[in-house]
Amino acid sequence: MKFELQGKDPLSKARAATLTTDHGTIETPIFMPVGTIGTVKGVHQRELKEDINPDIILGNTYHLYLRPQTEILEKAGGLHKFINWDRNILTDSGGYQVYSLSANRKIKEEGVKFKSHIDGSYHFFTPENVMEIQRTIGADIIMAFDECTPYPCDYRYAKRSMHMTHRWLDRCIAHLEKTPYKYDYSQTFFPIVQGSTYKDLRKQSAEFIASREAEGNAIGGLSVGEPAEEMYAMTDVVCSILPEDKPRYLMGVGTPINILENIALGVDMFDCVMPTRNARNGMLFTAHGTINIKNKKWADDFSPIDEMGITYVDLEYSKAYVRHLFTVNELLGKQIATIHNLGFYLWLVREARKHILAGDFDAWKNKMVKQMDKRL
Ligand code: GUN
Repeated sequence: MKFELQGKDPLSKARAATLTTDHGTIETPIFMPVGTIGTVKGVHQRELKEDINPDIILGNTYHLYLRPQTEILEKAGGLHKFINWDRNILTDSGGYQVYSLSANRKIKEEGVKFKSHIDGSYHFFTPENVMEIQRTIGADIIMAFDECTPYPCDYRYAKRSMHMTHRWLDRCIAHLEKTPYKYDYSQTFFPIVQGSTYKDLRKQSAEFIASREAEGNAIGGLSVGEPAEEMYAMTDVVCSILPEDKPRYLMGVGTPINILENIALGVDMFDCVMPTRNARNGMLFTAHGTINIKNKKWADDFSPIDEMGITYVDLEYSKAYVRHLFTVNELLGKQIATIHNLGFYLWLVREARKHILAGDFDAWKNKMVKQMDKRL
């Protein structure tokens, strides 16, 4: 993997770069649409490529391991071939999904025993078998197996958990060294910083993670319910320690405003279910604020859903029509809203990149944050 810095904003810590793998070049800052189970929900690969056009999407080890299962993905020749996507894919390790199972899992030093949300069967994830599974899924970027701590989290638990995540990281690295790539392209491995909302733990964790000299680094354990200001404080501490010449990925973040604020702190990569999940609930993000398309006030508003939007749905469908589709619970409403929201998120990070390269990101970001903080 090659990471090349191309520009820095003079007033913030924002940077623009390119990241190149065997499946192509990713321009950063980037937002990665989430395709948990091998589909970005509701969007055809053709629309994803031609209308939304991300350089990379996400998959999830936990979900893909349960269905269609690793064996099928291996027979298919890896996830890219299985889902017909020839650009980059990143897989999360399952550390976060196992955390989300809360009552249905048991975390021990050896690994995590969990109960499948599909059929109640028991499974065991370890740093070793999760690396093995990610080799078989075959994403371009694969993630360390970690424990994502909840919020709030008491200091002693956060500290113990962080140390376990560090020990798990060394087990991931040792196992990957013994496990060759499965397909005819290489994979890059990212470790994950933890440490809850404690500055000293975040600092320790970032130093530990940086010392492992991976090709890129991630920040986990945020956007789990903490106030935005705490999230920014943690990102700031961690970004000041993680190396400048490697990509930084903030996992599971966030709102359009969260993304711009974290870009300003030096983050390069983001993913979140928000644009897709909220779309299915009728929430549309725009440069001027969020729209609840189910609201009665749109019933006779025949203006396009977003005059500034970049995808075909933005001009071709009216607010009144999309509201109608939600009212009668038609699938198409969710599809239109999803394409719109992903188009908006991708537009936002591309604009951010343009402004970083032009040297006026900070002022643009402040204007956008104010503008987007509204309900229309
Ligand atoms: N997605 C969002 N947060 C996290 C995290 O802390 N760990 C992992 N593995 N994935 C995440």
